[in-house]
Amino acid sequence: MTTPDPSAWIDLTGKVAHVTGGAKGIGRGISRALAAAGATVMVSDVNLEGAQATANEIDGHAMTLDVSDRAAVDEAMQKTADSLGGLDVLVNNAGVYLEFGGPVRDITDDMWRTLWSVNVDGVFYCCRAAADIMINHGNGGRIINVSSTQAVTPGVGVTYDGSKAAVAQITKALALELAPHNINVNALAPGPTWVNEGPPPATAGNPPPPSGEPLADTVADRIARLPKGHWGDPMEQGKAVVFLASSMSDFVTGIYLPVDGGWLTL
Ligand SMILES: NC(=O)c1ccc[n+]([C@@H]2O[C@H](COP(=O)([O-])OP(=O)(O)OC[C@H]3O[C@@H](n4cnc5c(N)ncnc54)[C@H](O)[C@@H]3O)[C@@H](O)[C@H]2O)c1
Repeated sequence: MTTPDPSAWIDLTGKVAHVTGGAKGIGRGISRALAAAGATVMVSDVNLEGAQATANEIDGHAMTLDVSDRAAVDEAMQKTADSLGGLDVLVNNAGVYLEFGGPVRDITDDMWRTLWSVNVDGVFYCCRAAADIMINHGNGGRIINVSSTQAVTPGVGVTYDGSKAAVAQITKALALELAPHNINVNALAPGPTWVNEGPPPATAGNPPPPSGEPLADTVADRIARLPKGHWGDPMEQGKAVVFLASSMSDFVTGIYLPVDGGWLTL
């Protein structure tokens, strides 16, 4: 019997990946991780300069894309496949949050629509366009939708928390539908991940005993008590995406994978 080579299981050489919202933050970490595993990466974003900066770091490619624009999404996915020789992995990472959050009475129709048009419509448009290409090519594929721990533990507000729960369920529905085409569809659920300039604020890293303590009731409270004791790093999200994009997860589809430093234990 030949001994398996685990390094081959994560090797993405020859695979083409498209990462939305890759100009900064988690999307940049995901792009870096996929490229490190050997994939050819198309980085898209409304911020072309940032997408290009990410692409330059990883010897990848960049394009401008607003995921809430259906026609632009169709064109971008097709252009990725035509120019890079296929589309094997789609990472729906683009998302907006804090600027559209807050108490329900302060949420305007416009804030609600804008957030959902990016976080939900955008995911749907990209999934639909990529699934069409993947099915036509007949080589299978991987779709990874970036949800959030807020899908399970609300705290940012109705707009964002609701949108991320929708992403988690869209993922499951699509996993069921696309499994016969050998397309695995999974959701990544990041916990607090530091994407701003400068070092992240300290966390206590000292969770309460499992009994007798009230549950934390604010996001800040939970971050302060994060079991792993530090904010997440975009590359930690990227590593989990490599798992979901690679042969390491051949039999994994329809899951919601928290990468959260223990957030959901609180
Ligand atoms: N950072 C966290 O703690 C955290 C936790 C859970 C989930 N998430 C999710 O991870 C994803 C990335 O978040 P982040 O923290 O890196 O955010 P970020 O703000 O640092 O980066 C988001 C990127 O998406 C781009 N973008 C925004 N609207 C877009 C659009 N319409 N089309 C294309 N690109 C667009 C932005 O230009 C930016 O480059 C989001 O879906 C977010 O909801 C983040």
